[in-house]
Amino acid sequence: MISVRRDRPARARLSALGAYVPDRVVTNADFVARMDTTDEWIFSRTGIRERRYAAEDEATSDLAVRAAQAILDDAGVAAADLDAVIVPTCTPDYLFPSVAALTADRIGARRAAAFDLQAACSGFVYTLAQAASMIESGWADNVLVVGAEKFSNLVNPDDRSTSILFGDGAAGALVTAGDPGSTNGFLGFDLGADGSLGCELLIPVGGTRHPAAKAFEPQDAYLQMNGREVFKFATRAMEETTSRLLDALDMSIGDVDLLVAHQANQRIIDHAVGRLGVDPSKVFNNVEKYGNTSAASIPLALTEARDQGVLAPGMRVLLVGFGAGLTWASTIVSYEP
Ligand code: UT7
Repeated sequence: MISVRRDRPARARLSALGAYVPDRVVTNADFVARMDTTDEWIFSRTGIRERRYAAEDEATSDLAVRAAQAILDDAGVAAADLDAVIVPTCTPDYLFPSVAALTADRIGARRAAAFDLQAACSGFVYTLAQAASMIESGWADNVLVVGAEKFSNLVNPDDRSTSILFGDGAAGALVTAGDPGSTNGFLGFDLGADGSLGCELLIPVGGTRHPAAKAFEPQDAYLQMNGREVFKFATRAMEETTSRLLDALDMSIGDVDLLVAHQANQRIIDHAVGRLGVDPSKVFNNVEKYGNTSAASIPLALTEARDQGVLAPGMRVLLVGFGAGLTWASTIVSYEP
């Protein structure tokens, strides 16, 4: 990206959506067949019935490329016109290069800056803030945001408390420069992190603390989670970040037309929705079909809401997430195709 400050100000606009999920469906029955669990336990504790798994030879960037193409098709924008490709992910192909660099190359985004953003399941909303900032400060016109995750290689297949939760997928949005006089766009963001809780959800091996080349227990190369602590944090964080954002905007929950939360667990969402007093008919969920796809989960739900006619242009949508870090993030944005 070569950028020169734009004279004309612009308002960032969420202008297109798109998603890609692998074909392979892994049902609760598939877990029941090989571990001590039941469909009843999984569904009642999580709301998940199935998730998608990528093929062995498919990595995160392969999913990101498919979603990126869907977003560009939806936008009618050429890859050559992208100023930046940002991929929120916590399951990258490699420590480096970034998934974004690999994706930008494969879609032909030759002039785009490309980088990953690591805020785990809060990553999509964090990245929207980054994209909107680049546009509203005058440095970019078209920023592609693609949440992409392949968890099927990074969850311990023998750990019944984590393997059942996660799935693979990619989804995202195009953020473009819009009318500076618009009262729509992104109304605000609340982003945060509490690294003192980082140990509650992590993959211990593979970074500089415990390099992959040194001896380690095989289970330490997989995702590890203190489910109860994360559950407690998640219900609190979702409620607090939303309340803080609404207060800062002098809005009430009734001013929101649609709520799309990080699709980690139906019980967490229901808990937060209940505490916030959101009309359940204004909440869109699809965790039942895809499980937790981390940074892809919010745009995957948004895209499906749009495709089902639930998300309409101009609606004020509250996006709220939480995840490893531990992090949280919320924004209120209107969808303006
Ligand atoms: O993006 C952020 C991702 N993280 C999350 O969203 C996770 C948040 N946490 C959770 O969703 C829940 O903590 C879980 C769904 C992971 C677990 O539910 P829970 O109600 O907190 O269960 P628990 O961990 O307290 O475990 C209760 C029991 C245990 O057995 P004992 O020790 O009481 O005998 C577990 O071993 O349930 C057992 N258990 C299972 N039983 C059948 C754990 N996983 C399973 C399973 N099937 N798949």
